[in-house]
Amino acid sequence: MMRRSLIAGNWKMNGDRAMTAQWCARVARELGREYAADGVGKVAAAGGVADAGGAYFANANDDDAAEIAVCPPHILISAAVDALAGSCVGVGAQDLDANESGAFTGQTSARMLADGGCRYVIVGHSERRALYHESDQSAAQKAHTARAAGLCAILCVGETRAERDAGDTEKVLARQLDAFLDALCGDAPGYSAAPAGVVAYEPVWAIGSGRAATPQQAQAAHHFLRARIAARDARVAAQCRILYGGSVSGGNAAELLAQPDIDGALVGGASLKADDFLAICGAAS
Ligand code: 13P
Repeated sequence: MMRRSLIAGNWKMNGDRAMTAQWCARVARELGREYAADGVGKVAAAGGVADAGGAYFANANDDDAAEIAVCPPHILISAAVDALAGSCVGVGAQDLDANESGAFTGQTSARMLADGGCRYVIVGHSERRALYHESDQSAAQKAHTARAAGLCAILCVGETRAERDAGDTEKVLARQLDAFLDALCGDAPGYSAAPAGVVAYEPVWAIGSGRAATPQQAQAAHHFLRARIAARDARVAAQCRILYGGSVSGGNAAELLAQPDIDGALVGGASLKADDFLAICGAAS
């Protein structure tokens, strides 16, 4: 089956209101403003796109068009949602709390994110695992809560350089993925209506390094992840989008996205500049 590409920007702890306004105006103008009735961000006919960059999406009103999302810091989400209203670009968050509400100072719930206009949320990013002690179980719990609130959870998995060198890549990916699969393949009542989950393979050694995994390295990891999902549920495996993340740029996006099991990209540094991000979106359409 055809999986629709997803290109998502993760701004991490970068940006401010002025940057958000400029970025959103530029990206919305470039990608067209019509919003598909199915709510998944289909890029509409590029009517009104007068400048040269419109060529990125010259044929964008067909089903080949990529789904596009941006995940700013929490404080900038509402500005992004307002600035991107009516555009094809969805907004997501970079983290959430697994609890529904209550005495959790500083935290943000899935319902708050959905209420604030988010459609996506990243969980288990390697920076949260390394710096804030995120476990496989808490990432999975967050994904579960996110999906129950109608958000698309993007679970990040990926090995460190030391783990790769020790030959442990698949062991690490399997461990990180398995808890999530309980949430993804679970059949609790109402779950069929939950948005499909997304997995992002982000080798820690490639993140922020300027050196992405080779398309072959990435494809091997993606293939492994899809096979592991298939062992649980072949239908979920066929539908689940697996994004690559780690130094994706306008220069390497096309060859990464050409791999059969790479269904999009989670873009850090290169998502901060609208033009760089648009070049990656262009490579996906
Ligand atoms: P870079 O694209 O800056 O390597 O970051 C990748 C990433 O961590 C996205 O979540």
